[in-house]
Amino acid sequence: MRKDVRILLVGEPKVGKTSLIMSLVSEEFPEVVPYRVEEITIPADVTPERVPTHIVDYSEAEQTDEQLFQEISKANVICIVYAVNNKTSIEKVTNHWIPLITENTDKDSRVPLILVGNKSDLVEHSSMETILPIMNQYSEIETCVECSAKNLKNISELFYYAQKAVLHPTGPLYCPEKKD
Ligand code: GTP
Ligand code: MG
Repeated sequence: MRKDVRILLVGEPKVGKTSLIMSLVSEEFPEVVPYRVEEITIPADVTPERVPTHIVDYSEAEQTDEQLFQEISKANVICIVYAVNNKTSIEKVTNHWIPLITENTDKDSRVPLILVGNKSDLVEHSSMETILPIMNQYSEIETCVECSAKNLKNISELFYYAQKAVLHPTGPLYCPEKKD
């Protein structure tokens, strides 16, 4: 059995990565947040899958690319966060974050990805129409979830999905390269 699970949150600035982590931990929306919170360890007995879980924040304002690459390579699952009301942050999922993660992870070990659409409290319409084609294009994406750090909507679900993606992956563990 696995010893622990390491969850990394990445995404464009201001999409709400730090707010999501703090909402999970304090069960209320923090009005003021630092750029980055220190790594948080959730003890096994309060996690749904009974495995100690580390949650790691990332902020471009406080970290170098080198530090980011190191965190990517250490992560067991990566949540790519976008804001549902910010189209650019969605575009960056495919034209920046997924390629960057692919470049910095071992080709043979599949790191599951979770697409996280935050700030669902700010929109009427779901971003799923935009997200589904991305899901279909990349087999690394385990699942997607829309949530709100502000309303505390789907916050515990998000971290449960992340744990589950590591402990019970549904995708292929090994994708042989296509040979023509
Ligand atoms: P960086 O550390 O700069 O990369 O940003 P971040 O992704 O950590 O975002 P942060 O948590 O600092 O939140 C950015 C802004 O969005 C803050 O003003 C938050 O209060 C706000 N915010 C975060 N989550 C939500 C949400 O679910 N709904 C709304 N309405 N605002 C949110
Ligand atoms: Mg932050």
